[in-house]
Amino acid sequence: MNEYSELVRPVLRKVQGYEPGEQPKEGPILKLNTNENPYGPSPKVGAAIRRAIPRLKRYPDPDCSRLRAKIAEVYGIPESCTLVTNGSDEAIRLVFEGLLDPGERLILPVPTYTLYDVLATFRSAEVVRAQFGDDFELPPLPTAGKLLVLPNPHVPSGVAFAVERLAALARDFQGLLLLDEAYVDFGAESAIGLVGQLENVAVLRTFSKSFSLAGLRVGFLAGPPWLIETLFKLKDSYNVSHVAQAGALAALEDIGWMELNAKRIMEARDFTRYHLLSLGFSVPISSANFLLAQKPGVDLYPLYLELKRRNLLVRYFATPGLFDRIRISIGKASEMEFFLETLQKALVSLA
Ligand SMILES: Cc1ncc(COP(=O)(O)O)c(C=O)c1O
Repeated sequence: MNEYSELVRPVLRKVQGYEPGEQPKEGPILKLNTNENPYGPSPKVGAAIRRAIPRLKRYPDPDCSRLRAKIAEVYGIPESCTLVTNGSDEAIRLVFEGLLDPGERLILPVPTYTLYDVLATFRSAEVVRAQFGDDFELPPLPTAGKLLVLPNPHVPSGVAFAVERLAALARDFQGLLLLDEAYVDFGAESAIGLVGQLENVAVLRTFSKSFSLAGLRVGFLAGPPWLIETLFKLKDSYNVSHVAQAGALAALEDIGWMELNAKRIMEARDFTRYHLLSLGFSVPISSANFLLAQKPGVDLYPLYLELKRRNLLVRYFATPGLFDRIRISIGKASEMEFFLETLQKALVSLA
């Protein structure tokens, strides 16, 4: 700290930034902590990226026109209702910047993706939290507010909500309902069809999870034109690189690749859940590429550490309501078999 650090806005001096899951540099670690997809992208993505290289001396298309046209075709929404972003995290940030002035109300059913809370603090917004119960049914939510953000499937439980329920939520809510569908391809019903029907619904998607392109950084927002037009003004002109646009386009052109791998992950998830239940964990039915395993009342931090000692990373949340749970990302079937074996050994050594 020096006298110049006083130049920083007070709210930023005290806030902790978002803490992403650990990304170990190397080693024989099985990473089941950040909901990545182990299968990798379609080979057509690599080929498209290589073809984009000669264009790197030029700025990329600021409108992502070809990619937006493809998104519109695949998801059945008008192109004017789409905005492509540098990962869906950028879209979340833009919505917060576009809508929330200091003191304005953001409704968050919690627990949830922790980035929402961090970005709300940056905006000095008022956060109204509604607590999920153990069954992860939607809690009663205030109808007054500027923005309501809900991941569907829910994070970190993986529980999916019915689209009719979400439509009713939007109709009751005064502000914008932002549905974060980062994991929707792993078995949930998408609400993207509500965009265009309801002027206060926006849906976020990412290429990071089901398309296995976390490192490329592409996401998109589907929303009403009043919102998309506003966010276009706010975004960095060249927010998505040539290679990212080309790679995401190729991924959508080979959507069968993604669907096949999502299906494999769903199968591995369901057998993993079955075995976790037989080991005495409570595990909600997940429609995402992760499971939230609970030993009610037992702090699972020692288990997290023991798994880490055995080169297996899962996610532990040091949050009061989540201390008795670990979140396990779903890998290949062979990785999940290794996970279950390691888990059993870890449980024995902790007993
Ligand atoms: C619910 C949710 N939304 C958004 C994201 C961000 O994804 P992206 O890689 O597209 O920024 C994540 C990443 O883990 C997530 O869990």
